[in-house]
Amino acid sequence: MVLMEIKKVTSKDLKKIISLEQQIFKKNAFSKELMVNLIENSALFLKLETGKHLIGFIIAIKDKKERANIINFLINPKFRNQGYGSYLLQNMINKIKNLKGVKKIVLNVQINNTAAINLYEKFDFKKSPIIFENYYQSGESAYLMELEINSL
Ligand SMILES: CC(C)(COP(=O)(O)OP(=O)(O)OC[C@H]1O[C@@H](n2cnc3c(N)ncnc32)[C@H](O)[C@@H]1OP(=O)(O)O)[C@@H](O)C(=O)NCCC(=O)NCCS
Repeated sequence: MVLMEIKKVTSKDLKKIISLEQQIFKKNAFSKELMVNLIENSALFLKLETGKHLIGFIIAIKDKKERANIINFLINPKFRNQGYGSYLLQNMINKIKNLKGVKKIVLNVQINNTAAINLYEKFDFKKSPIIFENYYQSGESAYLMELEINSL
């Protein structure tokens, strides 16, 4: 049996991360420079893998004194609908809870991304009433979703 593990992303993972990012998010993909910057500046950047296969990854930053923002999150299409997204998201929420003083987790999601919205709602994220028009490079609009947490 091959072990499935969550690990911190390092620069050695860049090639696979960027390739999957571009395959999934296309026009809206983060650039290589931004990914490098996030790794170097110690964002919470976690990957889930099994053997050589990258199942998915998730990135969060502390963007305000009391707030963390999940800025990127995906599961490789070959591995979807098997609970891996939930597993990775739960792990990230736990990590964020260990950040001193953080009281809220936010994220933006395309308004037509039902799979992701359902997942976030399962974890109790609430849609804020504001819609961000033309939020993405592709011109799509976004919801802001928020989860109140009790951190340390
Ligand atoms: C959103 C995403 C990360 C979910 O990953 P996943 O591993 O398939 O998710 P899980 O198997 O843990 O599913 C958890 C829940 O998500 C929701 N969900 C997942 N896929 C869904 C689909 N195709 N349609 C509707 N709801 C779906 C369901 O509520 C599901 O719970 P259930 O199995 O009890 O019904 C994945 O679809 C993905 O990578 N999408 C493209 C990138 C993306 O949109 N990222 C989010 C950017 S904000």
